[in-house]
Amino acid sequence: MIKQAIIPLAGLGTRLLPLTSVFPKELLPINGKPGIEYILDECIDAGIKEVIFIISNKKKMIKTYFYNDNFYKKIIKKKKDKRIKNEYKKILRYKKMIKFVYQNKPLGTGDAVLKTKKFIKDNFFLMLLPDDLIIKKNCSKSMIKIHKKYNASVMASMNVRKNNVSRWGIYKLKNKINKNNYLISDVIEKPSVKKAPSNKAVIGRYILPREIFSKLLTQKPGKGGEIHITDAIQTLIQNNKKFIAHNFSGKYLDCGSMSGYIKSTLKIARS
Ligand code: G1P
Repeated sequence: MIKQAIIPLAGLGTRLLPLTSVFPKELLPINGKPGIEYILDECIDAGIKEVIFIISNKKKMIKTYFYNDNFYKKIIKKKKDKRIKNEYKKILRYKKMIKFVYQNKPLGTGDAVLKTKKFIKDNFFLMLLPDDLIIKKNCSKSMIKIHKKYNASVMASMNVRKNNVSRWGIYKLKNKINKNNYLISDVIEKPSVKKAPSNKAVIGRYILPREIFSKLLTQKPGKGGEIHITDAIQTLIQNNKKFIAHNFSGKYLDCGSMSGYIKSTLKIARS
């Protein structure tokens, strides 16, 4: 069973400036609800019991958001507002399942994952990248089903435009398992159009094996001088670890860019 999830939240969110100059992007409301709550709800609905947030000193506001129960208590005492009471209960529920670790230097997603090493108890865990919202169908839940069936690592995947491959981790297909699931033979972080093995991109949902930590310990910085989870995954694949790409059926919303963030509010409001 996959019981633990990790969420890297230490990114600076520069693509969303000025909104992120004082405010963490994950707390920005999308149709009246902070982006991070969509991610947490996906986790809860997928059966996750514990979530590890990787934050930084600059993003402590995220912790404050989930630790503000005294404020709620005072308000509820004065005002018997049912909606606020329900929000309070929801926040308490989230708080109970979240642990915090710190990544104060932006050294990449791989480095962020490494910070959670001592908290991961099982052989596999889930990672969600908070910029990637997937609505209409719970992607994590579908991936957990695939993981159980094949006892393999799983990554969410989607076809992207050929001229846009350098924005993503791109993988090469080994063989097709069935309509929406493929075995991966290689994965490359943000390749040029020339070097890309396909137009199949990795989207921010991963079921990773615990062995990833030992690979990350010796992982050299890659693209842009950062330690990428994609590079550690490639090392595992070369060591014959099974990685499956799952073409999810939900709707993908890129909340990490300004145009994507605006669109996601509209799409969720209409859904
Ligand atoms: C990260 C990963 C990349 C993946 C993408 C999905 O990139 O490094 O492989 O395709 O998420 O959103 P980032 O969005 O952090 O640049």
